[in-house]
Amino acid sequence: MSTDPRQLFDLSGRRILVTGGSRGLGKEMARVFSLAGADVMIASRSLDSCRATADAISAESGRAVKVHACHVGRWNEVDELAEVAWNELGGVDVLVNNAGKSPLYESVAAIDEKLWDSVIGLNLKGPFRLSALLGTRMAERARTTGVTGSIVNISSIAAIHPTPDVIPYTAAKAALNAMTIGFAQTFGPHVRVNCIMPGSFRTDISKAWNWDLVDQAMKRIAMRRVGEPHEIVGAALFLASDASSYTTGAVFTVDGGVPT
Ligand SMILES: NC(=O)c1ccc[n+]([C@@H]2O[C@H](COP(=O)([O-])OP(=O)(O)OC[C@H]3O[C@@H](n4cnc5c(N)ncnc54)[C@H](OP(=O)(O)O)[C@@H]3O)[C@@H](O)[C@H]2O)c1
Repeated sequence: MSTDPRQLFDLSGRRILVTGGSRGLGKEMARVFSLAGADVMIASRSLDSCRATADAISAESGRAVKVHACHVGRWNEVDELAEVAWNELGGVDVLVNNAGKSPLYESVAAIDEKLWDSVIGLNLKGPFRLSALLGTRMAERARTTGVTGSIVNISSIAAIHPTPDVIPYTAAKAALNAMTIGFAQTFGPHVRVNCIMPGSFRTDISKAWNWDLVDQAMKRIAMRRVGEPHEIVGAALFLASDASSYTTGAVFTVDGGVPT
């Protein structure tokens, strides 16, 4: 493997699926992967939104970006996404399990089964099923062809700093961290599985935040500010590329230095 930095992070010919790739952190990751030479597919519930993002990325990178509509919390739709991505991309080398959310609730007693199931479904069940299907195919392919794979899960520092307003989400993301380590053992040595735990980033999620409280919280972190969406891409590029060839089962914080 080359240690030339331009080749270490080069994604030419890599086939990458990004869930939740239409907006926010997923959109920034899909954009940089395409600019680094990858064939990218983005998936979210809204095909129109995926198409608009794919067109914008293509205009900048000069590379086609594929799209597919999928509710990642639904087992059958995830099965279909895995099949479509594998067939349309001609195999998958990198899977980024990015789609996620945490709906607001009034109190823990007010959380009903529907909300619980939707948060666990999107943030944990979907990434499990997609990793199980595509990780297995990547590992089988590696045994015959030597072509390796990488899975990148997008968790949250809520997994290790639980707060009262995001209890189901924190549970799902903590389980996603654990699942990262389990899948790294399952699919090693040819498929690496890692996780990024973002702190606070200015995306559509942040529109619902109480910014007085956020500004107060930011005074306690090393960078003294929230992250901008493009600031996730360095970690994603590292984990997607050969630069991280000996990194697996790792859970990284990209949080501006939240104190432990
Ligand atoms: N922003 C932050 O401060 C922050 C902090 C920690 C962790 N994270 C994590 O980072 C990831 C990305 O967050 P973000 O801030 O970029 O969110 P965002 O701007 O709200 O974008 C979410 C993306 O996920 C898609 N999505 C939502 N529900 C979906 C579903 N049921 N099925 C398929 N796709 C779905 C959305 O598209 P559609 O609406 O078209 O489906 C969109 O593309 C999430 O896993 C989140 O938990 C974010």
